[in-house]
Amino acid sequence: MKRFLTVDDIGDLKIALQEAVEVKKNPYAWDTLGKNKTITLIFFNSSLRTRLSTQKAAMNLGMNVIVLDVNKDGWKLETEFGVVMDGDKPEHLREAVPVIGRYCDIIGVRSFASFEDKQADYEEQILSQFIEFAGVPVISMESATRHPMQAFADLFTIEEYKTKERPKVVLTWAPHPRALPQAVPNSFVEWMKEADLDLVVTHPEGYELATEFTKGVNVEYDQKKAFENADFIYAKNWASYTEYGKILSQDRSWTVDEEKMALTNNAKFMHCLPVRRNMIVSDGVIDSENSIVIDEAANRVVSAQVVIKRMLESIK
Ligand code: CP
Repeated sequence: MKRFLTVDDIGDLKIALQEAVEVKKNPYAWDTLGKNKTITLIFFNSSLRTRLSTQKAAMNLGMNVIVLDVNKDGWKLETEFGVVMDGDKPEHLREAVPVIGRYCDIIGVRSFASFEDKQADYEEQILSQFIEFAGVPVISMESATRHPMQAFADLFTIEEYKTKERPKVVLTWAPHPRALPQAVPNSFVEWMKEADLDLVVTHPEGYELATEFTKGVNVEYDQKKAFENADFIYAKNWASYTEYGKILSQDRSWTVDEEKMALTNNAKFMHCLPVRRNMIVSDGVIDSENSIVIDEAANRVVSAQVVIKRMLESIK
């Protein structure tokens, strides 16, 4: 595996999920695979889960790990081409990326949507430079448009908890005080579409995701109707795609609460975290026994380890 950006990069989902089961059962079975190999994790944005879980996954495989917080540790990086670099950014990604590639065997990169330019975000202006110039395999640790390691962990968690062959899985928009990217819902839809389950997406009008993700997906604007008989509720906020980056609503009637969960088939509650309590979800729901957010976060080690393991196997 030379890159991990979309669901297509993982190949057959059933095989990947089986590999995840094996990795979870025996995480140290490949602890020499990464001997004398280095992974560099580069963060343009904050993280708790992604940083720790990817580092832990790499350590389980015997790798050396370098973490770079670009905003704190490095030179400020220019990302646009053709600019006169007379501002506060002394280094261009065009040099920085291949240099980083010479110091390691795999690069993980986190670079969120800027919301300044929809086209630049959806063309993955930063991630695409890593792919083009790194010279080593690249893992997306959440890009402007996708968060594949999260979606892989989400699907694995659903597989672990499902009690029927084809569960109903509902992705619901929920209110948030700040504009958040569409990366998590985009990837969630992209991965769930490939899995054998009944996916429903619910959000207020104006929050439609890009059709490249939602083509063929059941979108229901009535949140309560969407929740009926659901087996999993996956809550997430995102800013508008059509009115790019704008907050169109902070309607608290979309918060996931006990009353709405009562409409479901005793559904499990999921969220990628971090989560704003009593905005996205009520305390009662996230603290209930049906909340599986901690197990979901724990599975981020598993998804990361499967991906890094496959990359190590391909570069040996
Ligand atoms: N879910 C997730 O990616 O968490 P972090 O932003 O803390 O890494």
